[in-house]
Amino acid sequence: MISLQQVSKTFKDRGGSFNAVQSVSLEVGTGEIHGIIGASGAGKSTLLRMINVLERPDQGKVFVGDKELTALATRQLRKARHSIGMIFQQYNLVLNRTVSRNISMAMELAGVPKPERLARIDECLRFVGLEDKANQYPSQLSGGQMQRVAIARALANSPQVLLCDEPTSALDPQTTADILEVLRHVNQTYGVTILIVTHDMNVVKRICSRVSVMEQGKIVRTAAVADGEGLDDA
Ligand SMILES: Nc1ncnc2c1ncn2[C@@H]1O[C@H](COP(=O)(O)OP(=O)(O)OP(=O)(O)O)[C@@H](O)[C@H]1O
Ligand SMILES: [Mg+2]
Repeated sequence: MISLQQVSKTFKDRGGSFNAVQSVSLEVGTGEIHGIIGASGAGKSTLLRMINVLERPDQGKVFVGDKELTALATRQLRKARHSIGMIFQQYNLVLNRTVSRNISMAMELAGVPKPERLARIDECLRFVGLEDKANQYPSQLSGGQMQRVAIARALANSPQVLLCDEPTSALDPQTTADILEVLRHVNQTYGVTILIVTHDMNVVKRICSRVSVMEQGKIVRTAAVADGEGLDDA
């Protein structure tokens, strides 16, 4: 479902240049939950943002489904991104909009007609267990509830892929477990392929089928999680 072929990203500024991601190749199968773990600064977020080309690789190719995203013009790329949801550590909700409007926004951008939007908002809110919060504002919610709204928003356009950047790093252990269950439920119900960036090996052990370890811009190994071999030092 996701194929990265020797992607690289170098950030340049007046002080010089920094190779944030160096010739990384990765295959993630349809329906897989794949973890990316590594120290701060290893290039995890940069790699994740290259998958939907929010960050354009300097070199290499990105395929999602049957499309090479790195070959698309801006308009086609924008359209292709509708099938890729994303969630973040800090939720990135729009604070002056209600829960419903937050979920509606992505669909508005995708041109979904209003009656369909309303039905879909209901469906997504029920899926994450927040049907009673539709008219609340983000500031009225707990962190775990805000992350559920972010997941509902990401699901609204029925994505094939969900990219998660440290989705539980701001949450306590119980809420982390709850959110991981929601993500597992997304994967099992809709067959969504999920990529999760995390610092936390427990997150990997809990829901990932495979994991890749990043060090200094490179994936140094990829392993199945069930055997977990060689991962304890990660
Ligand atoms: N827009 C940018 N401009 C310049 N340097 C950047 C930019 N984005 C990231 N970097 C650098 O690239 C490296 C990798 O950053 P990245 O955010 O991908 O790391 P990370 O593994 O996600 O770290 P963390 O676990 O702290 O989130 C870092 O050294 C960072 O300073
Ligand atoms: Mg990061």
